Amino acid sequence: MKTRCAVLIAFLAVPCFATDLTGNWVVRDPLPDGTFRTTYLDLHQEGSRITGSIRVTQFYYKIVESTGGPDGFTLTGSMMDGTNERRVKYEGKLEGDELHVATRRRPESELIQMVAHIAPLGEGAMPARLPLPAIHKVAYNGLAKTPPMGWNSWNKFAGRVDDASVRSMADAMAANGMKDAGYQYINIDDTWEAGRDAQGNITTNKKFTDMKALADYVHSKGLKIGIYSSPGPNTCAGYEGSYGHEEQDARIYAAWGIDYLKYDWCGARNIYTDEEMQAVYQKMGDALLKSGRPILYSLCQYGRDDVWKWGPEVGGNAWRTTGDIRDTWDSMTKIGFSQDALAPWAAPGHWNDPDMLEIGNGGMTDDEYRTHMSLWSILGAPLLAGNDLRNMTPAILEILTNREVIAINQDKDGKQGRRIAKVGDQEVWARALSGGAQAFGLFNRGGAPAKITVQLSELGLKTAPAHVRDLWAHNDLKLDGTEYSATVPSHGVVMLRVTQ
Ligand code: GLA
Repeated sequence: MKTRCAVLIAFLAVPCFATDLTGNWVVRDPLPDGTFRTTYLDLHQEGSRITGSIRVTQFYYKIVESTGGPDGFTLTGSMMDGTNERRVKYEGKLEGDELHVATRRRPESELIQMVAHIAPLGEGAMPARLPLPAIHKVAYNGLAKTPPMGWNSWNKFAGRVDDASVRSMADAMAANGMKDAGYQYINIDDTWEAGRDAQGNITTNKKFTDMKALADYVHSKGLKIGIYSSPGPNTCAGYEGSYGHEEQDARIYAAWGIDYLKYDWCGARNIYTDEEMQAVYQKMGDALLKSGRPILYSLCQYGRDDVWKWGPEVGGNAWRTTGDIRDTWDSMTKIGFSQDALAPWAAPGHWNDPDMLEIGNGGMTDDEYRTHMSLWSILGAPLLAGNDLRNMTPAILEILTNREVIAINQDKDGKQGRRIAKVGDQEVWARALSGGAQAFGLFNRGGAPAKITVQLSELGLKTAPAHVRDLWAHNDLKLDGTEYSATVPSHGVVMLRVTQ
């Protein structure tokens, strides 16, 4: 930053004003958890051209267009997220030694005004790229022989999760029948992190004062505890990631008593390409094994780079196959009904993960939530409840704890179900179960109740089956003849278990 001083009087402090924008500018927004959301504008002005970068915690943009100068400028930043380009625009002007800037989170949202000050050169810069290991196979950790079941904080609480809410979720799960039905993990998602101490050890923010004590508490309820991180310098919510600290973090998780890690790509996209994901994920797979504690390894990179093909190679027990779920019928069905082709990649120890459950979060009807639970069970997907377990209706608890449906999800053969028929809005999905049994889901995605008729031959049954169980009505059905019909409510499901 070059300056021009208003008056030059010896021995008096005089105001000095920047005459160009060059400098490393920072905006530090304090968050209630004691951390900061930081925006760095590392600017270089040459005449009327402004170059440099803009880093908003996990987002790192190169400035690709600029207009104006100190009295009024606009900047356009660009970053690649896999094959997608993300752009941001900032406008601003220099006022004394402050840089006043404004941006919009989305093109249609309101302008956010910020004031940046000069920071030391290099502060906030993206760390240098670390070399990646050669690809090798990480040994299977022996976990998740059936899809993991538990609870995760993100869908309902996002940044509001804290020690007290995690404890109370463990209390609820232990007492409300979920633990007895098979739910096991209490998983803390993003926003628990603070930074690193002088030795590089990851520290927790104000919301989590003692992770070891929290893990002990969850274990005392007969449950297990999970945590979240990123292979990048920052997580998706902009908190501290594990970049360059993989082994150290894994050791710390093990010392705290952590049983599950969700490892979320986000911040790594500024350093590595999608094609390098396998080596990046392998690093933490190795580190977890080396920690000596069995820690379930859940990959979260939104199904990019055909993760199902290499997930098991990096020691992954589950891998997300899609972007984030939302609590809407549209989002849930787009994700759930698009999983058919991935069936061959699921197996005991290694699961396709179409994201966590939204059951009970209020955006869908109970019929729609029954569809959610049925589909995730036929898919052999992780069952991670995402609602407030302390406060749910009996109908929601019944959906989450339907043991007959859970038994389909937890079938020990671990064969993911597939779509076997689709006519208009009606779909039939089937899952082969251990001992030669089968599960069928008759789904009605349409806006009105519909009669769904299936020929027994379509279900692969030669003769009328010996035993047919309706898993939501909890009764046995009589099947004779060559077909089966059911009236399925709009957005609802009939789910059957059939033994020949
Ligand atoms: C990503 C993940 C979500 C959640 C958030 C947390 O969006 O896909 O499941 O973990 O990050 O920031």
